[in-house]
Amino acid sequence: MLYLLTGKLAIPLVQRIINENNIHPNKPSTEPNNPDIPHPLFFESMVNNLVDHGYSVQANCLPLVLGKLLWEQSHSAPVTDFQNAGIGRNSGHSINKAIRTDAVAWITKETKAGEQWLAWILRLQDYLNQHLFLGLFSFESHFSLYKPDGFYKQHYDAFKGKSNRVLSLIVYLNYEWIAVNAGELVLHINNSEELISVKPEFGTLVVFLSEEIPHEVLATTVDRHSIAGWFSSRQML
Ligand code: OGA
Ligand code: MN
Repeated sequence: MLYLLTGKLAIPLVQRIINENNIHPNKPSTEPNNPDIPHPLFFESMVNNLVDHGYSVQANCLPLVLGKLLWEQSHSAPVTDFQNAGIGRNSGHSINKAIRTDAVAWITKETKAGEQWLAWILRLQDYLNQHLFLGLFSFESHFSLYKPDGFYKQHYDAFKGKSNRVLSLIVYLNYEWIAVNAGELVLHINNSEELISVKPEFGTLVVFLSEEIPHEVLATTVDRHSIAGWFSSRQML
C-alpha cells in the first residue's frame, strides 16, 4: 500500500488502477456489462476522494425511486424487524448501550427495495474495483434506527487483521434534517486533528476505509434512519 506523510501521521492511500479512464479523463465512463448506461457522475468523484483522503461524502446521490423505496421500507418496517445492535464479532459479540443504542434490520434482496439497493451497490462495487486496488468481493448492509437520545460512540468498523471489512458505506434516509435534530456523523481524520461532520440528510452517501477512519454518531433528538454497509475482501479472517 502507498503511504503519504502528512503532518505527524502516515496516511495509507488507496492505490488507483491506471487504466484508459485515467489516461483519458474526459472520456465518459460506461457500465462494464452495459456500455449504454453511463455511471453516475459521483462515482468518479468518490474514487478521487478515496485516493486523496480515505473517505468521501456525496450529497444527493441516491436515485430518487430507489431512495423512496428504501425510505418506505425503513419507515414502515415493524419494530420486530429491528434488533438491538451489538458490538464485536462472533464470540466477542455483545449488546452495550453505553457504546451504541441503535437497532438494526439486515437488508436482503427479498424485498423490492433490497433488490434494487443491492443491484445499485453492485454497480458501485464494479466501478470501484475497476478504478482502485481494494478487491471488494461482497457486501452486507442493514437499516439502522436511532431513537431520540440515540448515539454510537467513536469506533472503527474494522480492526487490522481482525476482519475482512474494507470499505464502509452509509446512506441517510431522513427528509428535511434540521440543525436541532443533531445526530451528525463525525469522521475523525488525522488523530482527530480534523473533524468532518455530516448531517444525516436524505440521499447523502458517505464511504470511508473501514480500518483507517474512526467515527461516531452524535446523539440525535428525533428518530434517525440510515443504512450502514460494508464491502469485504475475499480474504477470510
Ligand atoms: C455504524 C456507523 C454511522 C451512521 O453503523 O457502524 O458508524 O451515521 N453508522 O449511521
Ligand atoms: Mn461505524
